[in-house]
Amino acid sequence: MDQAEKLRKAIEDLKAKQLRNRRTLPAIPAKRTARVITVTSGKGGVGKTNISVNLAIALSGQGLRVVILDADFGLANIDVLLGIVPQHTLLDVIKDRKNIIEILNEGPQNIKFISGGSGVEELLRLNREQVARFIKNISLLDRLADIIIVDTGAGLSDNVMSFIMAADEILLVTTPEPTSITDAYALIKMISNRDNAKKIKILVNRAESSAEANDVLNKLVLVADRFLGLKLEPAGYVLNDDAVKKAVKQQQPFIVAYPKSTAARNIKEISVKLAQNENSGEQHQEHGIRSFFSRLAGFVRT
Ligand SMILES: Nc1ncnc2c1ncn2[C@@H]1O[C@H](COP(=O)(O)OP(=O)(O)O)[C@@H](O)[C@H]1O
Ligand SMILES: [Mg+2]
Repeated sequence: MDQAEKLRKAIEDLKAKQLRNRRTLPAIPAKRTARVITVTSGKGGVGKTNISVNLAIALSGQGLRVVILDADFGLANIDVLLGIVPQHTLLDVIKDRKNIIEILNEGPQNIKFISGGSGVEELLRLNREQVARFIKNISLLDRLADIIIVDTGAGLSDNVMSFIMAADEILLVTTPEPTSITDAYALIKMISNRDNAKKIKILVNRAESSAEANDVLNKLVLVADRFLGLKLEPAGYVLNDDAVKKAVKQQQPFIVAYPKSTAARNIKEISVKLAQNENSGEQHQEHGIRSFFSRLAGFVRT
């Protein structure tokens, strides 16, 4: 089999599998492009990777096809969280050694994940021709996924900023700590300086109570509205929960290891709200993964 045939067969197998998995689930309207949600934060270590992975699984549980792209420049660690060692990374696609299907790793409960590896940095160094070839290859993801979650590092660096600005939608994670909130606000300000119409959803992680979480959400929404004229959207909150730490140690997503935990319930609520967006049609200005990487390449060049 030549490369093109292999690719066609891989897509057919994947489609057949998806069809089998979907049979018992509600029908999802056919879409041409995936919704790209970039998860980021001002400050590091606030729970982005845990939220990306568990949210992906919760969305998958609602019948959506979800792919996570691990795009943290420094500490890529979705594989660690899942206890999976990826054989290939984005770099293999960039170097034309593999196609996008071949670098998809199977995660729990039908999610797929792509390890960015050193490919994430390499991506920002490609010439026009290489970018075009890469984008053509990665565009296949639009047909294979409803939602692509891009897990990034903390946002206050140029590289991460490029990823943020390329996204249709940003899920900004903060904790109730004052330093985390001020860094989140600094990032919101940077985003709004570049594009005041960017959709930003705020998620509060590790709050001690729903009252504390809502207080942080309300304050950020108010301040962004008053000082930046930006409408932030509260995505919800995940409470501080030992189940998260225990699951991390077991290298399992908490929603799998502790499905009845508070954190798992919180994530499910957030996922239901996000998926409602998905079906309401409100979300359909999204441009998909192809456009995400085109914009990314554009930002890097300017
Ligand atoms: N809701 C939570 N409750 C308790 N601990 C949490 C929670 N979210 C994150 N943590 C802790 O914070 C650590 C860092 O989380 P991680 O998702 O790796 O953050 P980031 O990707 O932002 O660097 C986790 O290993 C875990 O110990
Ligand atoms: Mg992380």
